[in-house]
Amino acid sequence: MIFPRARAQRKALPSVPDHGLPRHVAIIMDGNGRWAKARRLPRVAGHRAGAEAVRKVLRAANKLGIECVTLYAFSSENWKRPEEEISDLTGLMKQFIRSELDEIHNGNIRLRIIGDHHAFEPEAAKMVDEAVARTAGNTGSTLVVALNYGSQDELARGIRKLAAQVADGSLDPAAITPDLIGAQLDTAGLPPLDLLIRTSGEQRLSNFLLWQAAYAELYFTETLWPDFDEAALTEAVNCFARRERRYGGL
Ligand code: IPE
Ligand code: IPE
Ligand code: MG
Repeated sequence: MIFPRARAQRKALPSVPDHGLPRHVAIIMDGNGRWAKARRLPRVAGHRAGAEAVRKVLRAANKLGIECVTLYAFSSENWKRPEEEISDLTGLMKQFIRSELDEIHNGNIRLRIIGDHHAFEPEAAKMVDEAVARTAGNTGSTLVVALNYGSQDELARGIRKLAAQVADGSLDPAAITPDLIGAQLDTAGLPPLDLLIRTSGEQRLSNFLLWQAAYAELYFTETLWPDFDEAALTEAVNCFARRERRYGGL
C-alpha cells in the first residue's frame, strides 16, 4: 500500500532528463595547495592554477549543457587560514570577476552567491554584488559560487527565520515541511542537486550542501583541482549517467 503522503513525496523527487545529463552539478574544488607543493611552488600558485581550472571547467559545463553549476570557492571555516592566503584568495576572486564577467554575462549566465560574501573586504564584496546585479536578468544557465559558505550556518539561518515566524504566530509548526525548509536556504529555487564532485582524493563534505546533497550522486576523484579539466568533467558526468538513482524506491 502506498500512503498518500509517500505518494506526494515521490512526485516531488528531483528528475534528471532522460539522456542522463545532470541538471545541477556542485564541485568541492580541493587540492590547490597540494598541487603547488608538488611543484615546490607557494600555495598561491596553486590557487592561481585553480582559478584557471575554474575558467576551463565553466566553459566545458556550458558546452555540455549543464543548467546549474555550484562551486565551493571559500568555506566559512577557511577563515582559519593565514591572513596572507585569505588575501591572495580575495585578490584572485577580484581578478576572476574582472577577467571573466564579460564572458559570463555574454553567455547569458546568471551569477548567484550562496553564503555571505559581505564578510570579505568591502571592495571585493562590492564587486561581487555588482556582478550578481549585472547578470540578474540572464536566462541561460546559472553559476552559483559559495563564498564564506557553511551548510550548518545556512541551515541555522533558515531555521531561525522559521522560528521567528512561529514565535510571532504567523507560522504553524505543523506547516514546517522539507520543502519549506529548503525554501529558506541560500539555494532556494535552484534545480535539485544531482551530482556532487570532490577533487583531490578527500572523501568528505566539509560543510557543503548537507541538506541539498540528500539524494545527490557523489563522485570523488584523486585529480587535484588545478588538473581538473573538460575531460575530467566529462568523465564525471558520464559516470553519473551510468548510476542508478533509486530515491529509496525499487
Ligand atoms: C582548495 O584547495 C581551495 C580552497 C579551499 C580555497 P586547498 O587550498 O584546500 O588545497 P589543499 O587541500 O591544501 O591541497
Ligand atoms: C573545502 O576544502 C572548501 C573549499 C574547497 C572551498 P577544504 O580544503 O577547506 O576542506 P578540509 O579542511 O580539507 O575539510
Ligand atoms: Mg583543501
